[in-house]
Amino acid sequence: MNPFPLLKLLDASRFRSGTELAAELGISRASVSLALGAAAEQGAAIQTVKGRGYRLERAIDWLDEATVAQALGGAACYFDLQVHTEIDSTNSALLKAAQHGAPSGLVYAAERQTQGRGRRGRRWQGELGDALMFSLLWRFNLGVADLSGLSLAVGLAVARALEGLGVADARLKWPNDIVTLQGDKLGGILIELSGESEGPSAVVIGIGLNLRLSEAVRASLDQPAQSLTLLGYSGGRNRLLAAVLAELARTLPAFEAQGFAPLVDEWERRHLMQGGPARLLQTNGEVIDGVALGVAPDGALRFACAGGERRVHAGEVSLRRVA
Ligand code: BTN
Repeated sequence: MNPFPLLKLLDASRFRSGTELAAELGISRASVSLALGAAAEQGAAIQTVKGRGYRLERAIDWLDEATVAQALGGAACYFDLQVHTEIDSTNSALLKAAQHGAPSGLVYAAERQTQGRGRRGRRWQGELGDALMFSLLWRFNLGVADLSGLSLAVGLAVARALEGLGVADARLKWPNDIVTLQGDKLGGILIELSGESEGPSAVVIGIGLNLRLSEAVRASLDQPAQSLTLLGYSGGRNRLLAAVLAELARTLPAFEAQGFAPLVDEWERRHLMQGGPARLLQTNGEVIDGVALGVAPDGALRFACAGGERRVHAGEVSLRRVA
């Protein structure tokens, strides 16, 4: 059975017995035990004590459409937020919805993704209640070629939202990672396009942000990662989702009208590696050392190396900081 109705009845401050939970949902005690056992195996932090029942190890700020709409205020009219308890990937599902004509502004957020996807074919993991994972469908009257700086503009919107929430030390790492001052990953962005290449275009913007990271997840990741909680954020996921959406409601129409060019200076001010030594790892295995000069109006990285200045496009390479 879907464990979420049960999980949402659990409390962090007290135990609830299996009998009590079973009665509340009109199911058997055995079903409670099976469902919560399976949820715990999938990573839900549940404490189970014989004779007392079940308790959440920490409170979960469950995603809630009405709470997000209230926090969005006037900007709520841009979005139709749908919260899914479990989904394969909010990006995959929204791409399908886009193909069936879903409107601009549709947002899928998920408590759990079974096949969360990152850039470059990586997996994206987020533990229950510990990550914000959502995707936004946005339709542009632009062709695909005009969207090249979009992922950087989206990164900037996320960084602005975090700053507005008091997280001062989040930085951008080209093309669109959200990182700490040490370069540890706080979150990432996966942008996927569908529709006609000449435009109009339908863009699915997937965003994953770590609010908390368990040692188990941290150890399983192939790059250093950090959580917003450690940067002082304690406002919960609904508030964070509203803040990021509100910034996107400001940034995306501006991008459609003027592209990325007016955002270059602000993006560079927030760039972790701006003006510093960096290393490009090319898909063919070649490594090039140089200096990250900044970004071009089309979102390409301006990289100085032995051969002069190069313009590098996302997808061709990954960028590393050099100590
Ligand atoms: C990356 O840094 O590699 C991008 C990560 C993007 C993850 C988000 S979580 C919500 C959305 N759904 C997905 O399957 N991926 C994105």
